Amino acid sequence: MEYFQTKVINHYQVGKGIFVMELVANGSRCRAGQFFMLKTADASRPLMRPISIYQATDNSVSFMYRISGQGTEELSHLKNNDTIFILGPLGNGFPCEKVSGRIALIGGGIGIAPLWFTAETLLKNTENEVDVYLGYRDELFALDHFVILDTDFFIATEYGDEGYHGLITDLFEPDHYDAVFACGPEPMMKAVFTMCKEVRTPLWISAERRMACGVGACLGCAFPTLNGVKRVCKDGPVFADKELCWES
Ligand SMILES: Cc1cc2nc3c(=O)[nH]c(=O)nc-3n(C[C@H](O)[C@H](O)[C@H](O)COP(=O)(O)OP(=O)(O)OC[C@H]3O[C@@H](n4cnc5c(N)ncnc54)[C@H](O)[C@@H]3O)c2cc1C
Ligand code: FES
Repeated sequence: MEYFQTKVINHYQVGKGIFVMELVANGSRCRAGQFFMLKTADASRPLMRPISIYQATDNSVSFMYRISGQGTEELSHLKNNDTIFILGPLGNGFPCEKVSGRIALIGGGIGIAPLWFTAETLLKNTENEVDVYLGYRDELFALDHFVILDTDFFIATEYGDEGYHGLITDLFEPDHYDAVFACGPEPMMKAVFTMCKEVRTPLWISAERRMACGVGACLGCAFPTLNGVKRVCKDGPVFADKELCWES
């Protein structure tokens, strides 16, 4: 993990209030499901914001984010060659090397962000077969990025016209898979948890909490588990089904 100043090399809008920002960084040490803390160079705004790794190469790391408040709004104004401060990679990431076979990745809303890099990582094992489930509220975004992956796709829009009309979990059949990774709104992940538990399909979810330090020091991102209170930034953001104290 490193804190450093770097530059924006590409920044563009992919949907309503949703952007992809590519930064100069060595992405070779990044794991799928990890995140960075990001902050603009404006010294009057000290708080960094956690954003998942969307794509990573030897020379760059990209992030896909939705404007949800002041911090992400400020990020959206950055232009190519602007300076940005980043801390990472942080967190544990999805256990891609521990799973094999047929794997489902389920994302809801901006929770689809870590799934591109996760699918790419899983597909490095040529014996893996990966199905990607993308659940949107209304408008689709970043689908053109996802379709270049050699995976099958399931698309649902809750209020839109494209794909299946309803919840992405309506399309999901947990008994078809050897492992499942999910990221998105907590109600979606809880539904996936219940479905997987019924048929004993192993599941890992990426939890989301507000963060201050991002490195395990402030306990601001407390997440209750069956093994006690964990820190999403340091012990997560990925947690196994066995740790979750969610009702099923
Ligand atoms: C590990 C991790 C990875 C993330 N990855 C992404 C990503 O890839 N793309 C992306 O767009 N967002 C991601 N987020 C969420 C993102 O960090 C928040 O949207 C962002 O910090 C909001 O900052 P803001 O200043 O724009 O909004 P704020 O003004 O701080 O908040 C705006 C609204 O969002 C709510 N909010 C803020 N942070 C969170 C949070 N962590 N969980 C739930 N609600 C929150 C606030 O209560 C408020 O209603 C991630 C969060 C975590 C913890
Ligand atoms: S954000 Fe400080 S401990 Fe996680």
